[in-house]
Amino acid sequence: MSETFSLQLCKKYGPVCTIWLANKPVVILSGYQTIKDALVLQGEEFNGRAQYPFLVKATNGYGVMVSSGHRWRELRRFSIMTLKNFGMGRRSVEERVQEEARSLVKAFNEYEGGLFNPRELLCNAVANVICSIMFGQRFEYKDPDFLLLYNAVTDVFIVLNSPIGQLYNLFPGILDRLPGKHRDMFALLQDTQAYVKREADTRIKHLDVNSTPQDYIEAFMIKMIQEKDVPNSEFHYDNLLGSVWNLFSAGTETTSSTLRQMILMMIKHPHIQEIDEVIGPDGSPSMDDRSKMPYTDAVINEVQCNMDLTPTSVPHKVTVDTEFKNYHNPKDTMVPLLSSVLSDHKLWRNPGNFDPENFLDEEGRFKKNDAFLAFGLGKRNCLGEGLARMELFLFTSSLLQRFTFVGTRPPEEIDTTPKCCSFGWLPRVYDCYTKLRV
Ligand code: HEM
Repeated sequence: MSETFSLQLCKKYGPVCTIWLANKPVVILSGYQTIKDALVLQGEEFNGRAQYPFLVKATNGYGVMVSSGHRWRELRRFSIMTLKNFGMGRRSVEERVQEEARSLVKAFNEYEGGLFNPRELLCNAVANVICSIMFGQRFEYKDPDFLLLYNAVTDVFIVLNSPIGQLYNLFPGILDRLPGKHRDMFALLQDTQAYVKREADTRIKHLDVNSTPQDYIEAFMIKMIQEKDVPNSEFHYDNLLGSVWNLFSAGTETTSSTLRQMILMMIKHPHIQEIDEVIGPDGSPSMDDRSKMPYTDAVINEVQCNMDLTPTSVPHKVTVDTEFKNYHNPKDTMVPLLSSVLSDHKLWRNPGNFDPENFLDEEGRFKKNDAFLAFGLGKRNCLGEGLARMELFLFTSSLLQRFTFVGTRPPEEIDTTPKCCSFGWLPRVYDCYTKLRV
């Protein structure tokens, strides 16, 4: 469903409108107040996850992102708590991102003066941060285990956006019987799950339930042991493998695409490359610097608004028969949520245009906007938001500290409009040069 099509429908029929896919109703919600009423006031009913055949097949319905009800609540609570604990642990998430930012700067440095496409380097860095949290270590980019995980995310994404991937979501029964790239993709996912299972098995040998877990897998294994006698516990291998893959896939393409669009915007608008004079040439950017760098923060938020990565969010479903704004929605109805609020003329200064001032007050201080829904809203919002924001800030400020980015054409000729794919809006493919700043 392209955003233009759904937006046109909502403009014509209002903020709650139904379309039929095959014989199933799909209820599209748009507008800030409508989305807020559904996700916050009636969150219990609207917080189910719509079942995409591809996602169901990939994880058999296990894992935090694809599940609903009791399973989702348990896995979500655990995942949020674990990420939070790592934030406060001995080796904090911030240190892991900073370490990866240094490796990213080094990798960009190797291209100094030469033309290159930043896609792979950015994706490597972002995937490696998740590796560090999941497996307790970062990998060299050529490590076969890293390549297995990396390919599982990037190849799956490519297939999902291809005609065969889209057809799979419509006719899974038929496609399961036909050869094609979708089959290679499921085989690749099985290899990844086998790798995660091996990692879990190596941990079980020396696991001490009373010690502080060093990574997500270890924390999950401890929970499995603690709940081994709890009937219907959600802490078992299937949910571990599903959740690791969910976090990995949800966190990689999203954050790296945003960083890619960020660099493109910097090339188009060179003045935004003037990083605030806070860190200086030698310091290592940290999250403490963020409040002192409102302009950088505003640019990052505006890039997210402007690109509108997931225009229909990750579609929800209603968990029970639900009355909403005088409409009856039968249980399991799919509910995409249109982020058209990101371009609403009533909520933004200059919608459709790139304008960091949207996030600054008269004194130049960072100013939040409630209509910023890039990470969703309510109890099912992005559970990696804190990590994503940290990565966006630390990677952006570390790169800007060292480099100026230049494109292959004059800024006024560069088209920054993202391209539509089945998943959302992605940056255009581009090459760039870096010039050393210091
Ligand atoms: C710029 C980066 C990112 C953007 C724009 C983004 C956006 C989103 C959106 C729109 C949703 C759907 C919310 C809903 O269902 O209403 C979501 C869900 C999710 N995101 Fe992110 N995300 C980003 C980065 C990350 C990262 C780094 C992680 C990993 C830690 C992550 C993990 C997840 C998970 C696990 C869910 C499912 C939550 C649930 O079903 O309860 N995301 N994200």
